[in-house]
Amino acid sequence: MYKISEELAALGKKRIEGFPVEGFVRGSGPRNPALMLVGEAPGENEVQTGIPFTGRAGKELMASLASIGLAREDVYITSAVRSRPYKWGQKKERNGEITERKYNRAPTKKEIIAHAPILDTEIQDIHPPIIVTLGNIGLQRLIGPQAKVTQLHGVLIETPILVWNEEAQNFEPSRRHYHVFPTFHPASVFYNPPVRALKEDDWLRLGDLLHLKK
Ligand code: URA
Repeated sequence: MYKISEELAALGKKRIEGFPVEGFVRGSGPRNPALMLVGEAPGENEVQTGIPFTGRAGKELMASLASIGLAREDVYITSAVRSRPYKWGQKKERNGEITERKYNRAPTKKEIIAHAPILDTEIQDIHPPIIVTLGNIGLQRLIGPQAKVTQLHGVLIETPILVWNEEAQNFEPSRRHYHVFPTFHPASVFYNPPVRALKEDDWLRLGDLLHLKK
């Protein structure tokens, strides 16, 4: 198993202080994974279990992995942000009462910057053979804001990735090139069902690529 250092975790927690987020979920997986998966941020479920992708999206992701003969133990799972970004909203109970609750939201650029050193370190230490980005947040964190999953999904890209430069306060392209395979976020099929067929096709292509690489 690979684990980020306590110092880096403490730095991440410190850098995200003051933002509307909760919890801190570490990335999880072996030191030499078949793939690294880069999601968006943990949700309510993950903050409770402390393990990435353990909610409804996680079930969907495990099915995709299984479709190419992989399981959670074979891959390293992480995300752009390691705390759950939330916003307050109202929920109407069955008895008509209105209660306040936390809803998930996409992380902001500042939150992504706060946890950028964590993802940079994970990638540098693990050197994954392929980085699979799940959705636009993970893709744009690594390739830049112009990248769109709808345009780039299902194709292996050989590219530098963006690394946070604290002194310059900027993301800069890495000198090394990486293999990045963009696909949809597993939760996207819940609100956009036609994406399912595209996503399943992407995973089969990824399976072909991995078998070629063996
Ligand atoms: N979405 C993510 O990006 N990560 C999780 O752990 C859960 C949902």
